[in-house]
Amino acid sequence: MSSAETKRDEKSGQSEHEGQLLRRKRLRRAVMSLGVLGLVSLFAYQNCDGGFQFDPVTGTLSSGGGPGTSGGSLTITTFDPAGRVYTSDVFEGGLQYKIVATGAGVSSATLLWTRTQDTGNCVLSSGTSSDTRFVTCSNSGTVKIRLEAFWDDGRVDSREITKNTTAVIVDACGVNTDTRVVFRIPQGTNTGPWNSTASPALVFVGQTLRICNDDTVNHQLHTGGSPCAHQGSAMARGQFYDCVIANANTAGMYDHIHGTGATFSVQALDGTALYADATKSGTANSCATCHNPIGTSAKRGRTFAQIKDAILNNRGGMGAYNGRITDNEIRAIAFALR
Ligand code: HEC
Repeated sequence: MSSAETKRDEKSGQSEHEGQLLRRKRLRRAVMSLGVLGLVSLFAYQNCDGGFQFDPVTGTLSSGGGPGTSGGSLTITTFDPAGRVYTSDVFEGGLQYKIVATGAGVSSATLLWTRTQDTGNCVLSSGTSSDTRFVTCSNSGTVKIRLEAFWDDGRVDSREITKNTTAVIVDACGVNTDTRVVFRIPQGTNTGPWNSTASPALVFVGQTLRICNDDTVNHQLHTGGSPCAHQGSAMARGQFYDCVIANANTAGMYDHIHGTGATFSVQALDGTALYADATKSGTANSCATCHNPIGTSAKRGRTFAQIKDAILNNRGGMGAYNGRITDNEIRAIAFALR
């Protein structure tokens, strides 16, 4: 548990509350037997008692019962959106954190989760079981999340975590356009690769590869000057870098901060070069051979679908390209002809 997460054991206050707890326990049994009708009275009870058995998040009764006893080891652990134990004292706006209660007998205790303070506009939502909650905050502030565990032997334990919260970052990154390809460094990337080599980011010479940092750690693109300029400084979460694709050389791209293991796989294709490439046709002809150089091409403005169709239908012998030119290469040519 991090230093920012505070523990509080209510053992000391137990004797004062013992009578109350006994009453609660009797009430719980009564409520269980009353079933649905009991819910109504429980709402009323919850309002005057500060909450017991009724879970304000799920709106349901916790079952309790079972052999649970206070193990004295009640713990709350927080996980970041990538599933790693999270010890920072900040909940980043818009990200979902998981909070899990552990400890001997927790599965049979009655657990009550509440926000005892919330200036971060946080949502506490239920997990698959009563020992798990998810929290997402959207404003700058503070949130305190409290867990009370009611054991069958009448004891109650509690733990509380306190986090500073930050506002949701307004996404300045934007969306794909004809000339812009948006790539997002995913939250949780940390020091790992930005993407898999099996699915590189696809760009064409003349496009801009906009790299957006969705991660909570800084990133910075390293290049040896191609296919775009090396990024001058680190970018924080929510910032982006426009990598203007000048050529098809994508070798040696990685995260300048996190090193050569933090690879970034990009496929950059040069449509102008492919248009004039005579090795793709299988007949030593290029598009230019039959349709003029690209600047004066008879096929300006043609789309991927039109070029693909001409190849599949062997227009003017273009069927020779079939199986030799990839769909992405055709897309690059169409981009160059636009
Ligand atoms: C061997 C000569 C030859 C080569 C090489 C060739 N074409 Fe063609 N292409 C033709 C002929 C002939 C036609 C049918 C007549 C026409 O439409 O110009 C045709 C038709 C097309 C069409 C469909 C008609 C239209 O105007 O939409 C497109 C698009 C096209 N070519 C684009 C290309 C592109 C891009 C390349 C290079 C990848 C290419 N061609 C390579 C000869 C060729």
